[in-house]
Amino acid sequence: MKGKVIGDILVLKKDVENPYRLLEIPGVNRVVKLGHINGLKREPEVEVLIGDGTETIHKENHCLFKMDVAKVMWSKGNTGERKRMANIVRDGEVVVDMFAGIGYFSIPMAVHSKPAKIYSVEINPIAYGYLCENIHLNKVEDIVEPMLGDCRELAPRGVADRVLMGYIGNTHEYLPAAMEVLKDGGVVHYHESVPDKIKFIRPVERIKEAAGERDVEVLKKRIIKPYSPGVYHVVVDAKIG
Ligand SMILES: C[S@@+](CC[C@H](N)C(=O)[O-])C[C@H]1O[C@@H](n2cnc3c(N)ncnc32)[C@H](O)[C@@H]1O
Repeated sequence: MKGKVIGDILVLKKDVENPYRLLEIPGVNRVVKLGHINGLKREPEVEVLIGDGTETIHKENHCLFKMDVAKVMWSKGNTGERKRMANIVRDGEVVVDMFAGIGYFSIPMAVHSKPAKIYSVEINPIAYGYLCENIHLNKVEDIVEPMLGDCRELAPRGVADRVLMGYIGNTHEYLPAAMEVLKDGGVVHYHESVPDKIKFIRPVERIKEAAGERDVEVLKKRIIKPYSPGVYHVVVDAKIG
């Protein structure tokens, strides 16, 4: 059975025989099948096999994440990175989360560490709506400031001790903006999907290129998860002087 449990929903990728037996899995009350992603709006085909609706609240690492499993992503493979980010912040830091989603990193950081402020930018209004709800659910309104729009335009400049770039695709195109957002001596957490052979070479090269004259000290290189055959989702932490 290929699937993942998000909140009380078991999300399947394929049809199964007799889905009712899946209700034996602890915590599962509903079963949903997500199919192909169609059309310009990239909305997945959704079939609710058992129960009503696709909105749930998922608990992880003492944080609550409300989401619609048919409308926003939840990656099981990113659990380790969400936990790492929760405790990486030093007291009083200012953080800019350029690709906040529903608060995947911003919420654990605010719950487990003591940053002065986290600016969380999200372009998708649906994910932004859940981000706002999750800020209230986790009672971190004083720390997390949600911002709706494109991080290249909205992210505040010259303020950040730490910038999160938790997005894969054309992430490198956002590096120049990240460099403007970071203070001298700040740290960028840069994500990329990269072929195995160059998995830590290309991300570091791209960070150095965007940093220009500024010093780059690589603090950590980490594989988050296999992304596709021969390709990894990696993160590089780098201090920008
Ligand atoms: C898919 S999430 C990343 C997942 C996360 N790292 C995790 O732990 O599961 C990335 C988010 O970045 C948002 N995004 C994409 N381009 C953006 C932009 N230019 N400005 C702000 N947010 C953007 C997407 O809407 C999406 O919600």
